[in-house]
Amino acid sequence: MHQGVGVSAVEYTGNGFGKLLLFGEHAAVYGYPALGLALPLRTTVRLVDEVPRTELNRSMSRSRLSAPHLPEKDREIVQALWEDLFRFAGDRSAPDNRSTHNDTGNLLEHLRERQFTLHVWSNVPRSRGLGSSAAACAALAGAWTAMEAMEANAKLPDSQHATWLLAHKLEHRFHGTPSGIDTGLAVYGGCRSFLFNGGELPETQLLPHPAFPIVAAAVPRRSDTKALVASIRRRREAGDPVVHQALAQLGRISEQAIRAVAAGAPAETVAAAANEADSLLTALELDSEQVRYGLRLAREYGAVGGKISGAGGGGAFLAIFGPDRAEAAAAFAAALPAQIEKQGGEAEAIVISPPQLTPPSTKAESTTSGPS
Ligand code: MEV
Repeated sequence: MHQGVGVSAVEYTGNGFGKLLLFGEHAAVYGYPALGLALPLRTTVRLVDEVPRTELNRSMSRSRLSAPHLPEKDREIVQALWEDLFRFAGDRSAPDNRSTHNDTGNLLEHLRERQFTLHVWSNVPRSRGLGSSAAACAALAGAWTAMEAMEANAKLPDSQHATWLLAHKLEHRFHGTPSGIDTGLAVYGGCRSFLFNGGELPETQLLPHPAFPIVAAAVPRRSDTKALVASIRRRREAGDPVVHQALAQLGRISEQAIRAVAAGAPAETVAAAANEADSLLTALELDSEQVRYGLRLAREYGAVGGKISGAGGGGAFLAIFGPDRAEAAAAFAAALPAQIEKQGGEAEAIVISPPQLTPPSTKAESTTSGPS
C-alpha cells in the first residue's frame, strides 16, 4: 500500500494467488478435508483513490468505482463486487455495539463520496479451474481491507483472515456455495490443508511443499464451477449412491493425502492417491476428452500419476513426476499445448517445482484480465 502526499492519489493493493487443488474437490463442499497448492501465478488489484478529499469534491455527486481498463463485461462484475463490499462491510458492523456500528456507517458513507479507479493485473488463466475468480476476489478483498484499515486508522488484528472472509463472501457471486478453499489458497499461498469444523471458513494449515515436481495443466471448461457444483449437489440430494460414495471416498483419500504430504511422503504415494481420486472424479462424470488425453500424455513423459483438479468438466488437471524427473515434467508442460492444439483444442501448463529446485529465472507469462 502506498499513501500519497498533497494532492496525489492514494492507492491500496491486494493480491491473490491462482490455485491447484490436489485433493478434496467437490467433497470439500460437504465438509470433507481438502488439500491444495497455490500457483506461482497471481492477480493484483490496485484501488486508486483518485481525488484528494477537498471541500469541492465532498460536495460532488456520489460516484461509483470506475475500471476503465477492463472490458465492459468485467466492469459489470467489478461493479457488482464493489456493491457487495459495501454490503458486507455494513453487515460486519455489530448491531449491539453502537459505536462500532456508527463508525462503520460513517466510514462507508465517506467512501461512497469518493472516486476510485480499479486497476487489475493478472497472469492466472481464466475459466480454467486454476482459481482466477478466487484470486480476483482475494485481491479485491485485500485492497479493500487495506483501505478500511487506513481509513479507520486501525490495524486489523488478523488482516489476512479478514481478507479471506471477505474474499470468501465475494466468491459466492461466482460459485454459489464455495467451500472457501480456493480463496484460502489465494490469500495465504503455499501448500495447505483445509479442515471443516462448522465455522464460516475451514481451518487451514501450512504443510511442507511436495518435494517433487507437479505439472498444473488446464484446458477450456465445458461448464463453470457454479453449474458443476450444482449438478453434483442435485444428484446428491436425489440420493444418487454413486455420488454419495464417491464424495465420501474422495474425502477419505484427501484426509490420507494430507497426512502423507505433512509427513513428506514420496511422489509415488501421493500419485497413487491422485490416481484413485481421479477414478472417482471420472465416475462423477467430471472428466473430459482433452483432460484424459493430457493425463495419458503425462504418463508417456514419465508422470507417476495424475488427476482432474478442481470442479472438472475440462479445466484443470495435474501430473505428478518423481523428484529426479524435473526435466521430464518441463518437457511435458512444454509439449502439451502444441499437442492439444493439433487436435483443435487449447491448453496451458506450468511446472510447480519443489522450492529448492525453482530456477531463479522462472517467470510466468503475463496477461491482463479481470475476474472470471
Ligand atoms: C473448485 O475449485 C473446488 C470445488 O470443490 C468447489 C469448492 O470447494 O468451493 C469444486
